[in-house]
Amino acid sequence: MEIKSVMVIGAGQMGSGIAQVCAMAGYKVYLNDLKQEFIDKGLSRIEGNLSKQVEKERISQKDLIRGMDLVQGTTDLNDAKNVDIVIEAAVENMEVKCNLFSRLDEIAQDHTILATNTSSLPITEIAAVTKRPEKVIGMHFMNPVPVMKLVEIIKGLATTEETFNAVETLAKHLKKSPVEVNDFPGFVSNRILMPMINEAIYTVYEGVSSPEDIDQVMKLGMNHPMGPLTLADFIGLDTCLYIMETLQEGFGDDKYRPCPLLRKYVKAGWLGRKTGRGFYQYQD
Ligand code: CAA
Ligand code: NAD
Repeated sequence: MEIKSVMVIGAGQMGSGIAQVCAMAGYKVYLNDLKQEFIDKGLSRIEGNLSKQVEKERISQKDLIRGMDLVQGTTDLNDAKNVDIVIEAAVENMEVKCNLFSRLDEIAQDHTILATNTSSLPITEIAAVTKRPEKVIGMHFMNPVPVMKLVEIIKGLATTEETFNAVETLAKHLKKSPVEVNDFPGFVSNRILMPMINEAIYTVYEGVSSPEDIDQVMKLGMNHPMGPLTLADFIGLDTCLYIMETLQEGFGDDKYRPCPLLRKYVKAGWLGRKTGRGFYQYQD
């Protein structure tokens, strides 16, 4: 099946990035969110990213305009009937995702693939709320989407080879490097990354060192491009907490218990960069 049009659900940091790379690869994109103001924020993030590319002479102003013209904001989920694939990038919450997938299953055409950018939630469980589990799949992009090459592709129990092949081809058209991963909590990326971030948070919690020094150790000592606490703020502390909860629940193993300090920050609304405060403070 050839994919020509895409709906991205959630115009946050991931959804806007996915919409950007799809539009720049020539796909018609519907960008959906709950409110027009969230869509406008996503669209201006895309335009900001593309403008930087124009400044660096990586793309022309014409490319920017062509790309922006391909993205249509919509608060109406019914627009899912116009597309060949939906890529869901709403919050990391099973109830929200299941609700969306059962509605999308009613709206979308029979051939439409329903993909989720979930960081950790079981694809099989999301697929089970639809009548098309063979067309439900995980398409896990990394943040920031326009920069990071990896896409984990996760088959649920019923996902067909045909669905996998269509999504793998799409990922390659987006100039990404797809890797097939089995459906286990956190897949590969977050099963390995998130316990490291959680441990860094415990290191702050137990007073072993300051956030700045912990990040410095991992940057200078392990050559990580960002320290784990900067990265946690970048990902979003709410997302980090949801992923740790999914790992703990999914494996039934307390080695994945989220650090109480992470819970406290999320309860305080300190979600990292997106709210201006997490382990660090941000001006813009
Ligand atoms: N959006 C779009 N583009 C961005 C960007 C953003 N938020 N941040 C940086 N860039 C672009 C810059 O424009 C620049 O582009 P050009 O090469 O075209 O000039 C390029 O990235 C490099 O940026 P900088 O020189 O400003 O900064 P840097 O060299 O420090 O790189 C970084 C920035 C790429 C984000 C780097 O710090 C990095 O790789 N950090 C780690 C990111 C990471 O681990 N991501 C995975 C998170 S986990 C995940 O995504 C899975 C999950 O489920 C939670
Ligand atoms: P975000 O908070 O930046 O954006 C989420 C967006 O989804 C918000 O704009 C919100 O209004 C919207 N939304 C919520 N419920 C919705 C609904 N029912 N319908 C339409 N829109 C809805 O979050 P994010 O960081 O972009 O993460 C989105 C998804 O991508 C999550 O599942 C997350 O686990 C996953 N993910 C995140 C990262 C990361 O580094 N942040 C990386 C890979 C995957």
